Amino acid sequence: MIAFESVTVRYDMVTALSDLTEDIGSGEWVGLIGPNGAGKTTLLRAVARLLPHEGEIRVDGVAVSSLSPKRLARLVAYVPQQPELPPDMTVGQYVLLGRTPHIAYFGFETGEDRSVCGELLGSLDLATMAERRLSTLSGGELQRLVLARALAQQAPVLLLDEPTSALDLGRRVEALELVDALRRERGLTVLSALHDLTLAGQFADRLILLGEGRAVSTGKPDEVLTEESLGRHFGASVRVMRSDVGDLIVIPQRVR
Ligand SMILES: Nc1ncnc2c1ncn2[C@@H]1O[C@H](COP(=O)(O)OP(=O)(O)O)[C@@H](O)[C@H]1O
Ligand SMILES: [Mg+2]
Repeated sequence: MIAFESVTVRYDMVTALSDLTEDIGSGEWVGLIGPNGAGKTTLLRAVARLLPHEGEIRVDGVAVSSLSPKRLARLVAYVPQQPELPPDMTVGQYVLLGRTPHIAYFGFETGEDRSVCGELLGSLDLATMAERRLSTLSGGELQRLVLARALAQQAPVLLLDEPTSALDLGRRVEALELVDALRRERGLTVLSALHDLTLAGQFADRLILLGEGRAVSTGKPDEVLTEESLGRHFGASVRVMRSDVGDLIVIPQRVR
């Protein structure tokens, strides 16, 4: 569904992503992990065509560089880590923005647009807030709202940049469970940067560990989340353990 072929992204002097070749299958959830500055955001922004790249990125077989903005928005929904949130906009108006690629130029939203948005607000626990202004929402509510807007786009590819960083423990799992449920229901392909390595291992089918712009390890969570590899690339001592239900747990270890 997403194919990277020798993809390199440079900012003036810095090569933030080097020669990435990778295939992400339809319906797959791939987690991007790696230390700060490894290139996770850069990779996501390149797919959303917010940055120019060398090499080729194809979504559903088509080079993103050849798509019109509207066709790209129907294929790819991107949730940045710090989205723009106009303080005076209402929750209802904001979610409806996700429908823009489906609404004709100068057209009005339809009943379907409104029902898609209403349903998403409900499943993200925001149904009672439709009239509230964004300036009155908590960090967690805003994060769920941003997710709702992206899901309203109904694009088959969802790009998420650390979607749970402002959520508390319960809400984190809840938001990722929702993404997972929608993925199964609608066959969404998910590519997400995930800060929390334990959550990354629980939700992603496959992980790409980036180090200094290169994919240094790729595979199933138990192949990538190893003490040796994480220690080397995060520059920290970590323990990887297994919970009684078989999930991997990654915890930093104090240097004593
Ligand atoms: N706008 C920019 N101009 C110059 N360098 C940038 C810019 N954005 C990111 N970088 C650099 O690119 C590298 C990768 O950054 P980023 O993709 O944000 O990493 P991550 O999301 O993994 O923390 C870093 O070295 C960062 O400093
Ligand atoms: Mg980032």
